[in-house]
Amino acid sequence: MIRDLRVEYLRAPGAIGTRVPRFSWLPDHEQTAYRLRVARGDDELWDTGRVTGSNTVLIEYAGAPLESDADYTWTVWSWDAAGAASSASHAFSTALLEAGDYRADWVTPVQRPTAVEEWTLLDWITGNGPKTPIDERLRPVQLLRQEFSLREAPVRARLYATARGVYTAWANGTRAGDEHLSPGFDAYAHRTCVQSFDVTTAVTAGVNVLGLALADGWWAGRIGITGSSAQWGDATSAWWQLHVAFADGRTQVITSGAGVRSSTGPWRHADLFVGEHYDARAEPEGWRLPGYDDTEWKPVAATDADLSMLVPFTGAPVRRVDTLHAVSLDSRKDGVIVDFGQVIAGRVRLRLRDTAPGQTVTIEHTELLAPDGSWFQNITGINKEQTDVYVAAGGEWEEWEPEFTFHGFRYARITGAQLGLDDIVAVVLASDLEPTGAFTTSDARVNRLHENAVWSQRGNFLSIPTDCPQRERAGWTGDIQVFAPAATNNAQVAPFLARWLANLRADQTPAGGIPIFSPRSPYDVRSAAQATGIGAVQFAAGWGDAIASVPWTLWQRYGDRRVLEENIDAICGWVAYQSTDAYLDGHHFGDWLAPSTLEQGPHHEAIGVAPALTGRLCAEMFRVRTLDVASRIAAVLGRDASAAEFAQAAASARHAFADAHIDPEGRLDVSLQGMYVLALAFDLVPEQLRQRTADHLVGLVHERGDRLDTGFLSVPYLLDVLWDTGHADLARRLLWQSEMPSWLYQVDHGATTIWEAWDAVVDGRAPRAVSLNHYAFGCVDDVLFRRIAGIRSAEPGYATVEIAPDLDCGLAHVDAHVDTVRGRVAVSWKKGEHGATVTVTLPPGVRGSLRVDGSVRPLSAGTSRYDVAPDIQREKAVGS
Ligand code: BGC
Repeated sequence: MIRDLRVEYLRAPGAIGTRVPRFSWLPDHEQTAYRLRVARGDDELWDTGRVTGSNTVLIEYAGAPLESDADYTWTVWSWDAAGAASSASHAFSTALLEAGDYRADWVTPVQRPTAVEEWTLLDWITGNGPKTPIDERLRPVQLLRQEFSLREAPVRARLYATARGVYTAWANGTRAGDEHLSPGFDAYAHRTCVQSFDVTTAVTAGVNVLGLALADGWWAGRIGITGSSAQWGDATSAWWQLHVAFADGRTQVITSGAGVRSSTGPWRHADLFVGEHYDARAEPEGWRLPGYDDTEWKPVAATDADLSMLVPFTGAPVRRVDTLHAVSLDSRKDGVIVDFGQVIAGRVRLRLRDTAPGQTVTIEHTELLAPDGSWFQNITGINKEQTDVYVAAGGEWEEWEPEFTFHGFRYARITGAQLGLDDIVAVVLASDLEPTGAFTTSDARVNRLHENAVWSQRGNFLSIPTDCPQRERAGWTGDIQVFAPAATNNAQVAPFLARWLANLRADQTPAGGIPIFSPRSPYDVRSAAQATGIGAVQFAAGWGDAIASVPWTLWQRYGDRRVLEENIDAICGWVAYQSTDAYLDGHHFGDWLAPSTLEQGPHHEAIGVAPALTGRLCAEMFRVRTLDVASRIAAVLGRDASAAEFAQAAASARHAFADAHIDPEGRLDVSLQGMYVLALAFDLVPEQLRQRTADHLVGLVHERGDRLDTGFLSVPYLLDVLWDTGHADLARRLLWQSEMPSWLYQVDHGATTIWEAWDAVVDGRAPRAVSLNHYAFGCVDDVLFRRIAGIRSAEPGYATVEIAPDLDCGLAHVDAHVDTVRGRVAVSWKKGEHGATVTVTLPPGVRGSLRVDGSVRPLSAGTSRYDVAPDIQREKAVGS
């Protein structure tokens, strides 16, 4: 049997955006040969014939050119060792693949320009925000309407659409697709993704209507650290082409253009940060259906403005991925406070009974309450209102959920409605990525830690990988640089991250600079050029390096060679930039948020200590690291000369680093855990000093009471470095530490996601106004999979595995799996009175080794069970 047929990682993708798709499948046998065939109707386009080999992953199409906007079937045959073949077929469609396919005009509704508000970091810190009321600053969502006629019902209808803003489309009142916040966040000036929707069943013979609601979104709304608006433009616009095919083979394309009309409607405003204000009384009845009289509506302006940035959307769109019921409801003087039990990104859906026309309901959002249960706004700053308003039409019952905003929250405060627990749900929004991992143990706190990382991943993998889903929501390169390995265990993230990398490349400067976050708006570029201090940082060590480390992670975990090909030139550019004075002498964030550096003075001053103290060292260390990674990537791609050149540059930079920063006793000139961790992790310490340097690190950890003192950049390597230098006990002590700063401290203090600050919540102190949903420190989740369960990819894409569980970690049992591109790799281990048992399941075709306490045993596909004698176990209790 063959299952799980995928094109570009997706099952039956609606519209792939490449002429060279890659095919993958999972056979239930050890494959010895395969055959692939691709056809369009009866036309055969590709037949590989029988190919000897075990590969089942990402096999590149090499047939006759695929056409745009077309449907294909593919069939795979797979032979086992006995010569028996099985086969399976699946479908895929193509998007608009050629630049020339994009022909429609952009349409811009007549609209009041949104207030252009350019706030600086200082405005944000000092709270010097807008003085005018929200309704004067924000503007209504535009409704767009296009009528068209078809002579008969089509056999196929595909709507391709996008916007400068965010949009929802309807065909004759039926929502196109189940995506939200399309087209998503992109570096719009360089690339704007186009969605594809199958609307075949919604369009019909005669008059049809395409309706579109268009809000400010990332294009014109408030975004980023300062909450400035109109960062790409102050007017929204939309673009679409409806491709219709009839039974006789004829086709017709309906395009956005001069015939479209627009008006305002029920959305008084909708902004990703501020929230949404919806007045149900103002919904024009039937506007999405034929027959509606739109003569009062205004014609749009149609322009054929540059279409070259339009590209097919790839990967999984943002969807409602879950709903959570309210777990408690507390009526207070200031409103009803609802607890959903979980910090999420999403929005609240309400069911309202017996409403009066004009009845106004408000919903505020926060991730945390004050210790006494009263309302506390954990996110502050300009335009960070996170407040939705619903004005009822009046009736027996109404249901409402915002459409064009999302919030980061666990609690909502609602006024203006009588609500029961059943009337309120939280809708979780996220890029709809397939879950691939599971990790449970005998310790509920450890399980919660893993769940917290998963929830922070979900909350921050929303169109792009963000730092946090409530405050900045920016594609910070440093955050994903540290979290990407963990992300690959929990979900199928390859197309999602590949798409973001395309944005990152688009944002690269001609000098090779990779920005601190992407997408990066024209406003961001301008404001950084004018800023001083931290606001002036544009290209930072450990942030820009995401251009190399994220593709490298995708190669290791998925065996995706194309992502290396796509990024190698950008990597070379960044490596070149890293050898300039502008980089080496420039401002960096350094080992951002290293705990001891934050103890020195008021927070807004202390935040600058890590950059000042560790910026230069991080710059040098990440330069070596990325030269190493670039060299390995070049070698994989067969660019041997570049590989050698990078390796040589790395070697001399390594020597220079050791000469300049490491003394003969193996001490670094900055005495912080993080610097030792990075120097050891990146192999910057001469071999003869390595053990001594590691011992100094141990000393530094002891000085902090066996607690971590690592910041953003070093924390991913801390435990591995200790483990690999013979300090496994200390690594475990840090992992299970429950005094602050530590991972289990957060869990013990009610965390349901990973916090930005270790001390976000401290007993007896007012909570800090920081993000509770920042995945960066959740990078430890990868350690749980690799070190505790012991699941490691030994060759790219888990072609071979090394299973190395830590039976001495103090847990009684662990069950974990990763659904790899080759199938499920599962490990389950359990300790008992008479030793331990380790059960490993590998998918067909995958083999590897099991390392338990010094011995190495071969592993083959299928399930194997090993008993480990008690004499080689050392008891360690969790929390000891
Ligand atoms: C963000 C981080 C980001 C950092 C840069 C913060 O405000 O939330 O996660 O990486 O700035 O130092």
